[in-house]
Amino acid sequence: MSNAVQVDIHSHLLPGLDDGVKTFEESASIIQRFVNLGYRKLITTPHVISDTYRNTTEGILQKRDDLIDFLKAENINIELEAAAEYYLDEELFKNLQEGNPLLTFGNNFLLFETNFITEPFILKEFIFTAATKGYKLVLAHPERYAYLQLDEAKMEDLINRGVYFQINLTSLTGYYSRESQRAAQKLIDKGWVHFLGSDCHAAQHISLIETIKSNRYFQKALTLPLLNNAL
Ligand SMILES: [Fe+2]
Repeated sequence: MSNAVQVDIHSHLLPGLDDGVKTFEESASIIQRFVNLGYRKLITTPHVISDTYRNTTEGILQKRDDLIDFLKAENINIELEAAAEYYLDEELFKNLQEGNPLLTFGNNFLLFETNFITEPFILKEFIFTAATKGYKLVLAHPERYAYLQLDEAKMEDLINRGVYFQINLTSLTGYYSRESQRAAQKLIDKGWVHFLGSDCHAAQHISLIETIKSNRYFQKALTLPLLNNAL
């Protein structure tokens, strides 16, 4: 039995919906590489951003069904689900407040990202409101936000507010920046990591993930009580 990551919760593998893969062929070839790494399920998460990627629940689920059909025809055997990576903006907050259904995975986990530079002024209110609506928030790649990277107290505050943290495997390779790599290592050292994710947009990302097994911090992350494989 492998103790590696068997379920991925963050990727951009539905063709044409965002800045991820462009074609079904590209998606299938990347997904075959996930299968080769031992993954049994991918929960793919197109961007939902009100001023760029205005993806709807219906559009995402339709594209998911089309990709499932394509994979079946290509004899690629893996479970494929879809949720979304919601960008925290006024529109998301309004949808949450109005009770419009949002895409989740597992037991009502909702993946979200924020501005990369500054903390959104509605962040704490958003976290509180999401909890009252029964969502479990998963912050995508906390190691990549400038406002969080060096602020251990702020990281801890978010953890204490019940936010789950998902770090990107590629961050551990230094792919984004030295700062993101250091922050990801710090989160692993602190045990403040609940999910690992690929955030795979293209072949270059899966190529990096194919090398992650030899990464010392990846091995250390695997000793944490991660939630991936329970999904
Ligand atoms: Fe992403």
